[in-house]
Amino acid sequence: MDLGLSGARVIVTGAAANIGRGIALGFAREGARVLLADIDGEQAQAVAAEALAVGAAAAEVFEADLTGEGVASTMADRAAAVWGGVDVLVNNAGWSKPGFFAEQTDRALWQHTIEVNLYTAYASTQAALAVMREAGAGAIVFISSDSAFGAIRQGIYGSTKAGLISLARTVAREHGRHGIRSNVIAPGLVIPDAPVGPHSVWAAGTEAIFSPEQTDYVLRTQALRRLTTPGDIASAVVWVSSPTAARQVTGQVIAVGGGSSMP
Ligand SMILES: NC(=O)c1ccc[n+]([C@@H]2O[C@H](COP(=O)([O-])OP(=O)(O)OC[C@H]3O[C@@H](n4cnc5c(N)ncnc54)[C@H](O)[C@@H]3O)[C@@H](O)[C@H]2O)c1
Repeated sequence: MDLGLSGARVIVTGAAANIGRGIALGFAREGARVLLADIDGEQAQAVAAEALAVGAAAAEVFEADLTGEGVASTMADRAAAVWGGVDVLVNNAGWSKPGFFAEQTDRALWQHTIEVNLYTAYASTQAALAVMREAGAGAIVFISSDSAFGAIRQGIYGSTKAGLISLARTVAREHGRHGIRSNVIAPGLVIPDAPVGPHSVWAAGTEAIFSPEQTDYVLRTQALRRLTTPGDIASAVVWVSSPTAARQVTGQVIAVGGGSSMP
């Protein structure tokens, strides 16, 4: 099936590691042009090279901390200046530190989690909407999480991910008439299948974040009993971004975690 994404101008935030890398490579395989926005420029350059190798029509790196004032606008302006517009924005940049809610009393941790997970999505979405509205077309994808529906040790993080669902649906309702679709992909546990940089939550090693026992628990409580890969998330993101295959899909939450959640 032709997804109509050849030459599409795609921004992926947090594209230098794990899920963001997988998403960028997914669009690259469709022949899209990808702007990899990440605080980790070195790792993003490595992913850009991979993207070109698998078929991207172009791959640009935008190295920046997306929580900074005005940074997301500069990112969208850059895509518009280089490629003349933005067809797809994927709000993937995120950060989390698991912990029991009653114990996560550090306000700086709340602040950082909210800034990376929500603020970057607010700013990036507003910046992209300005460009997409002019064109009368576009697709925005928010990377939420199973944790959005309530999960142990994910209170602060999960509440930001639930916020993304509300935002995505508001954008869908407010901008459908401008030809813009807005959807959510909610991944289950996704362990990196390639090297990550120092800003990745996985930088300390997979087992420091998810012990083998915790991974085993996820598998036992999930319907399909197999781990979700970055490629699994990419397939869903690419499909829901397609102006042909998913042209009538907006405001939806699609969980990609082997049935770990069923929103
Ligand atoms: N991995 C999972 O199990 C899982 C499950 C559900 C949802 N998610 C969500 O998927 C997304 C990606 O997860 P991941 O596992 O690939 O995370 P990751 O930490 O490996 O990658 C996140 C990327 O975002 C970049 N980044 C962080 N803060 C940034 C900032 N302020 N400005 C610009 N770039 C920044 C990092 O450098 C990194 O490249 C996140 O939103 C995460 O919450 C992940």
